[in-house]
This record gives sequence, C-alpha cells and structure tokens, in this order.
Amino acid sequence: MHPLDALLADPALIDDPYPTYRRLREEAPVFWSEHMNGWVVTSYDGVLRTFSDPQHFRNGGRFEPVFDALPAEVHAEFAPMRRHFMHGIIGADPPDHTRMRALIQKAFTPRALDAMRAPVQVIVDQLLDDCAGRDEFDVVRDLANPLPVLVIAQMMGVPLEMGPQFKRWSDEVMRFQSSGRAALDEMRISHRALFEFRAALEDLFAQRRAEPRDDLITALVQAEEQGDRLSQEEMLATCVTLLVAGHETTTNLIANGLLALLRNPEQLAALRANPSLTATATAIEEMLRYDTSLQRNRRIVGEDVEIHGQHLRKGQFVMQVIGAANHDPAVFREPETFDIARNPNPHLGFGRGIHFCLGAPLARIEAPAALLSLLERFPHVQLAREQQDWRREMGALRSMRTLYVTKIPVF
Ligand code: HEM
Repeated sequence: MHPLDALLADPALIDDPYPTYRRLREEAPVFWSEHMNGWVVTSYDGVLRTFSDPQHFRNGGRFEPVFDALPAEVHAEFAPMRRHFMHGIIGADPPDHTRMRALIQKAFTPRALDAMRAPVQVIVDQLLDDCAGRDEFDVVRDLANPLPVLVIAQMMGVPLEMGPQFKRWSDEVMRFQSSGRAALDEMRISHRALFEFRAALEDLFAQRRAEPRDDLITALVQAEEQGDRLSQEEMLATCVTLLVAGHETTTNLIANGLLALLRNPEQLAALRANPSLTATATAIEEMLRYDTSLQRNRRIVGEDVEIHGQHLRKGQFVMQVIGAANHDPAVFREPETFDIARNPNPHLGFGRGIHFCLGAPLARIEAPAALLSLLERFPHVQLAREQQDWRREMGALRSMRTLYVTKIPVF
C-alpha cells in the first residue's frame, strides 16, 4: 500500500487528522488513493476549485461509488436507498439543483431564520438549567447534541415528542452519508433508518397538506415557483437532508469550538473580555476553520480535468478534504494556531459556490447562543478530561463521543 494510503486507512486519522493532512498537502495535494478508490484533494486552492466548478465537479451520483463497491448480490437490497440518494438538493446539479435550491430557499428565508433567535435562546437556557445542579456535565449529551435537533424539529414543525426518534434516524443515515466506504451491517442500519424516517415524513406531509401551519414543512409543501413544485421524491430527500445536515454538524461546531476554547485559555479569556456580536461571530468562524465539523465531502468528476498536474477522469470519485484546506499555510497564517480574532478567514467549513450550506445562518445563531450562554452561566468551566474520545463510526464528521466539563455555577 502507498504510504499515504496507509495513513488514510489508519484509524489514528480519526483522533488527529491534521498531521496526515499536512503530509498529503505537502507531498501530493491531489492524490490518487487506492484505499478510497478516488482522488483525495487537500490543498486549499484544489478544494476551492472542486466547490466552485460544478461543471467539472458534480454532485449528481456522488454516493454511487459507495453502492458500486457493495457485493453484487446485495445491489437489489440497497436499490431503494440508492434511488433516494439520487434525488434531493445535495445529489443534484444544475438545472435541477437551481430549481430545488430556489424553492427551498423560499422556505428558508433570512426572516424565518431570524425568527428562530428567541426560540433558540429559550432552548439553550432550558438545557443549561438542567446542568445547573451538577458539578460536572457532558456538553455533548446535555447541550450540543439536543440543541440542533430541538431547533430544526421546531422549525420544520416536527412534533417535539418525535425529536429523539428523528435524531436517531438522522444519526444512522449520517453514518452512511459521511462514510467513504460503508460496511454492510452499517449500511443495513442506515437503510432501515432512512425508510422509517421517510415514512414518518410522508405522514407529516399529508398532515400539513390537510392542515397547513406556520412551519418549514408546510412552506416546502406549498413551495412553488413558476408553477414548478418539488416532486414527492425531492421533498423526501430534501427534508431528510435538512434534518440530517443540521444535526451532527452543529453539535460538533459547539463541542469542538468549546474544546478549542478550553485548550487555549488566552483565547477563552479574550472572548470573555469581548463577547460582542462581531467578536463572537469572528470566533465562531475560527472554530469552523480550526477543527471543522465536516472534515471531508464528495464530488464526482463531471468532465476530464487537470488540477495540480493530475489528470482526473470523468466519473471518478473526489474527496474534498475541507479540514486540510482549512489548515493550508498558503492561505492561513500559522494554521495550527487557534486565533479567535483571525480575519479574514475564508475557511471552507460551509463549502463554497452553488451548494454553499443553506443552514449556515442557523448554525451561526445556535453556536454563539450555546457557547456564550454556557460561558456566562458557568464562568469557571474547565475540561474534566484531557483526552477526548473521537467517534470512528462518524466517518467524515469530527465528532467527540463526550465532552465532560466541571464548573462552579453562578446564579
Ligand atoms: C456547523 C454546522 C454546519 C456545517 C459545518 C455544514 C456544512 C455544510 C457543507 C460543507 C455543505 C456543502 C456540501 C456540498 O457542497 O456538497 C453544506 C450544505 C448544506 N447544508 Fe450545511 N452545515 C452545517 C449546518 C447546517 C444546518 C443547520 C442545516 C439545515 C438546517 C444545513 C443544511 C444544508 C443543506 C440543505 C445543504 C445543501 C445545500 C446545497 O446543496 O445547495 N447545514 N453544509
């Protein structure tokens, strides 16, 4: 095995991916990986190119290599899941993508997002109230994990009591979506979760058609532009994406961001000294850059193309290593330093171009609310454990199993 491939296959990549990213960037910024059966792009300009050039780097069929790699005898079993991932916003290219994005954007307006500020703060306060009586708590379990699911469930109009169920389905689907190559038993878990998820959504669509409400599902059901509606398949794939894309990513932004602050006390002190809107917003962007939630993303080569002297052929799989691009010294001075005042900070944590994260404004509301409230309520918060347990099963997501902190509460 090529030494760089051995590094990519090494489970240690999950605990600390940055040394491997650095070697790849320096030695082979566009690397053909036998292990991934695709190109691994790690330089900032390379990853930016793959995001900004949808003609050469397509989203359509981006999960096909995972299905193709399955043994032939199970292809029929996974055909429905394969069909699901052919539809919806993240699996589409223009013109379908343009139409879907315009329709979804109508339901996902800045006004709708702004209206979420107060409810987000209420949820954060309730979650922190529950932590107030304890000397030690797990930020992942008690705050970072429940917050995004409660917020998106409320926004979409998913009944509150279904929240935990949606969270479980969403995590199980994400295990497939974020993996480069999934094991058969993992795929079966994701497949079952996906179809339970879809059935629950179909019930909700029917309810909202009969009885419209002021929520995102109603808006999507009603979304119409020039008489062009979302098909039922597109609606299902898109709602699954909205629910899945916003969960773990936001959880990790909050948890990884807090970890970075607690490991860099001078940065924490600087944020405490100036928690203004602008300073906090700048700090959040640095958290997205420094230890980005979604480390790797995927494209398919749309037409033969050359980057960094490598010839990429139509149909090949491309792994965009966002975490490596965000540490490229060609763009970021002292990239291994966590600097909450870094500006400019053109990180690629939310992607770039036509697929730029639709939920970025929501994540930019949730993360500051969670982090600032936690720091304000618990001014002496500290890490309870030095070592963190990074979840191997989450593939491209940089995700801690737990983040225990100790505190002296102030009331
Ligand atoms: C910190 C949190 C988040 C991170 C790091 C993140 C990251 C990303 C990235 C990198 C992309 C680009 C994917 C691509 O180009 O293939 C993306 C797209 C997307 N994200 Fe997010 N995301 C976050 C939160 C959210 C939230 C809260 C939602 C929804 C509630 C959301 C919904 C979406 C959707 C629908 C797309 C697809 C847009 C398109 O294809 O046009 N994301 N996200």
